Amino acid sequence: TIVAVGDLHGDYPNMMTVLKMAKVVSENGTWTGNVDYLVQTGDIVDRGDDTLKMYRYIEKLRVQAQKAGGDVRSHFGNHEVMNLIGASKEILTFGGVEARQQMLAKGWLGQAWRANYTITTRLPLHPSLGPINTDYDPGKAGRLQDISHAAVSFLHGGLSPTYADLTPYPSRINSLGASLVKKLQEQRPLPPPHPPNQYPGLPHTATEREHELYGGNGPLWYRGWAMDKDAVVCSKVDAVLEKLGVRRLVMGHTPNFTGMVSRCGGKILLIDTGISHAYGGVLSAARFTYTLTPTKRKGYWIEKEVVTAIYEHHEEALVDSAREIQADFI
Ligand SMILES: *[C@@H]1O[C@H](CO)[C@@H](O)[C@H](O)[C@H]1NC(C)=O
Ligand SMILES: *[C@@H]1O[C@H](CO)[C@@H](O)[C@H](O)[C@H]1NC(C)=O
Ligand SMILES: *[C@@H]1O[C@H](CO)[C@@H](O)[C@H](O)[C@H]1NC(C)=O
Repeated sequence: TIVAVGDLHGDYPNMMTVLKMAKVVSENGTWTGNVDYLVQTGDIVDRGDDTLKMYRYIEKLRVQAQKAGGDVRSHFGNHEVMNLIGASKEILTFGGVEARQQMLAKGWLGQAWRANYTITTRLPLHPSLGPINTDYDPGKAGRLQDISHAAVSFLHGGLSPTYADLTPYPSRINSLGASLVKKLQEQRPLPPPHPPNQYPGLPHTATEREHELYGGNGPLWYRGWAMDKDAVVCSKVDAVLEKLGVRRLVMGHTPNFTGMVSRCGGKILLIDTGISHAYGGVLSAARFTYTLTPTKRKGYWIEKEVVTAIYEHHEEALVDSAREIQADFI
């Protein structure tokens, strides 16, 4: 079981309510062991005042999860990177401008970002696809038969059909992300904070590929899957899924304050519902389950995939599919 949570924007109490309601943690805030993965799609920072407390808690939870055989996967949102670039409305919680810059570069938070945050995750639904973040290899897809794409892509913004660095997925994007974050953390002198100073933009050492990564068509900012019309989106999504070796693109970034949005039969899932009180949306988490049940015919299985939107007082199926598949190597 995977539970995914969208933008949190500085609201610790609402984050805790969401994690409890999705049974990721128990009443006292400890990892329950009920889920295999907790995925957060970025934008923990800004618009609220609990940022540091939230990042601390997530690191604590990550350790607990791993001890129990689970994992927490964290992603950079455009707001995390904006903070590294030098933009922040949240200075006071860090104890001032200088302290904030130190914390994001060399402090425990900067270190946690560098060690435990990525731009995107390819999360396999079945172990025969390899461990988490195994690059999709089209050459091996045939051998995996009907489950070659039984994986989910998670990230903050979106993977545009015209973004040049989609493959090999996900390592290409994640290595660009890591190199950009490193440059931002090592920039000297640190640019003065924006506002009131001018927005500094990326450091002069950033490459063209890193500029693209952080651009409007890049994974941190792209909104096409959320904003474009159904006909456009659904005609383009299959080619992207095929290339990435996944069945679904799951992202935050573009909120719908009344609920999660499923498009093109669940190939696109938008999970940002404005959880923070700064937005006043609804509290939500998405739960993914996947099972293969053997049939009487050797090599054939019933594959069941369910994605459920969990809200405070009800649940709603976003995807509920069952089909017979062939996978004679399992
Ligand atoms: C938290 O609650 C869980 C389940 O109720 C319990 O097993 C665990 O011992 C508690 N942990 C702490 C630190 O209180
Ligand atoms: C990153 O996560 C691991 C657990 O996977 C934890 O032990 C480590 O302390 C974290 N790193 C930082 C710098 O917080
Ligand atoms: C937002 O979510 C609600 C409830 O799921 C849905 O009725 C509405 O169409 C969504 N809005 C958009 C723009 O998708």
